[in-house]
Amino acid sequence: MTDLLEPATAPTATPDGAAGDATWWRQAVVYQVYPRSFADSNGDGTGDLPGLTARVPHLARLGVDAVWLSPFYPSELADGGYDVADHRDVDPRIGTLEQFDELVAALHGAGIKLIVDIVPNHSSDRHPWFRQALAAAPGSPERERYVFRRGRGEHGELPPSDWTAAFGGSAWEHVGDGEWYLHLFAPEQPDWNWANPEVREDHLSTLRFWADRGVDGFRIDVAHALTKDMSLPLPTAAELAADDLPDGAHRLFDREEVHEVYREWRRLFDSYDPPRTAVAEAWVPAHRRSRYASPDGLGQAFNFDLLRSAFDARSFRAVVEENLALAARAGSSSTWVLSNHDVVRHATRYALPDGADEEAWLLSGGTEPPADHGRGLRRARAATAFVLALPGSTYLYQGEELGLPEVADLPAGALQDPTWVRSGGTRKGRDGCRVPLPWEASGTSFGFGPGPAHLPQPGWYAGFAADVQDGDPASTLEFYRRALARRARLRCAEDLEWVEGTPEGVVAFRRPGGWTCATNFGTDPVPLPAGQVVLSSGPIGETLLGGETTVWLEDEAGAAR
Ligand code: GLC
Repeated sequence: MTDLLEPATAPTATPDGAAGDATWWRQAVVYQVYPRSFADSNGDGTGDLPGLTARVPHLARLGVDAVWLSPFYPSELADGGYDVADHRDVDPRIGTLEQFDELVAALHGAGIKLIVDIVPNHSSDRHPWFRQALAAAPGSPERERYVFRRGRGEHGELPPSDWTAAFGGSAWEHVGDGEWYLHLFAPEQPDWNWANPEVREDHLSTLRFWADRGVDGFRIDVAHALTKDMSLPLPTAAELAADDLPDGAHRLFDREEVHEVYREWRRLFDSYDPPRTAVAEAWVPAHRRSRYASPDGLGQAFNFDLLRSAFDARSFRAVVEENLALAARAGSSSTWVLSNHDVVRHATRYALPDGADEEAWLLSGGTEPPADHGRGLRRARAATAFVLALPGSTYLYQGEELGLPEVADLPAGALQDPTWVRSGGTRKGRDGCRVPLPWEASGTSFGFGPGPAHLPQPGWYAGFAADVQDGDPASTLEFYRRALARRARLRCAEDLEWVEGTPEGVVAFRRPGGWTCATNFGTDPVPLPAGQVVLSSGPIGETLLGGETTVWLEDEAGAAR
């Protein structure tokens, strides 16, 4: 630990994150855009690239370092675009390659990097290679690009195993000639066969294609599942789920071979100047995450531990301690995520009683148990200020800067997430965090576009619109702008020192340069720590830090800078 009163020494990242700096990603604020729900320029109800380009000033004013763009590739939308029919093109409903280039230019012109989503575990069933595989015979090279197996039973009429898919139902789909193909997600998402060199080569071409177009980095979807051991006999679902499997022994997930793939990708990333970055979405135990985050692999991995943690001092501190240690061991920096396109928005999670079953709450249409939205937003802002003060990268999800709650009462007929149908109506899925953004308090689709939005927006969206919040110092939007601007000013080496002896329920830490962050996770006010308050997530007193509030303080010397 450096002496925090000394100038920052030996940073593992260049503090100013200058353009061309190869370590910009280590402490970046990355803003996730789910393109179909961000901004629609042509009124067809679907967000598009020109809509996003027109909103680059919003992102620049917010102060983000990078945008992570969720899939915008041609897709039948069986899974919100994560069913990719062509990884090297733009869905015509979203735009064109020329418009993609315009987006890159606009973002780079505003000093914002671009990360695109790569979905390497599966393709769409509309991908030309999958169409060819269906048309070809069992045992053909076309089928070898995917995971086809003969079914059980005399005529192959039974699935090769009893595995279930993530969205529900069997993980196997019959193709009518005794063979079945594997899909860990929807049936429209056949899994690639990563033992096939053609599949590997094709993905390298995809990465090169986007890197050549100026993309700065990649978010790798389901990064832990690519390589599988499909040797016979296949294990049963119960055997797969056994919790005493040694590390690396699962047949489908987190196998050693997957790192060969990422080492090859890393060589490709490092052939660019600056090297392209990558972040793994790998649902693996914390101690296995560093393998994905290592410098000879993808370089960084998502840590979703705060998504699962209650708003609680001990849990938050434990998650941070563990993840800073893991990231350091990997030679990476940690990541912090409170919301994304797959989970209930954090302003709503924190509005529910601790331990509430979110699935059941969604099924009740957001009525049972009742949500305390005021409290949810107060805690969400406190949690956001907490993570933004940590070393590492923070990933924000579109709309959280407006304090948007989840839309819990979407009618069943409007739901798009395959989870709803595949679970037989027992899980509502993720549409509630994907409702198109409210940019304006009035007008068709609240300024999302000139036509109605592809998912219905509730009337209360008006109160969260960006134009209502713009210029109001008490608004969540202005709070995010202040937080990001201050964070950029305070940017420092990646050290963190805990402040011990704080009152029960308070977590405080210091960063180099005289920056202290203190969060009161409890509900009773506590004495305000020493220093000059430069940011607070909610109203504070002269001498008291209120409940469920975070403050950033600077030492007097720092504050005068
Ligand atoms: C990832 C994505 C999720 C998608 C799934 C299958 O978990 O974040 O949205 O459904 O992969 O591609």
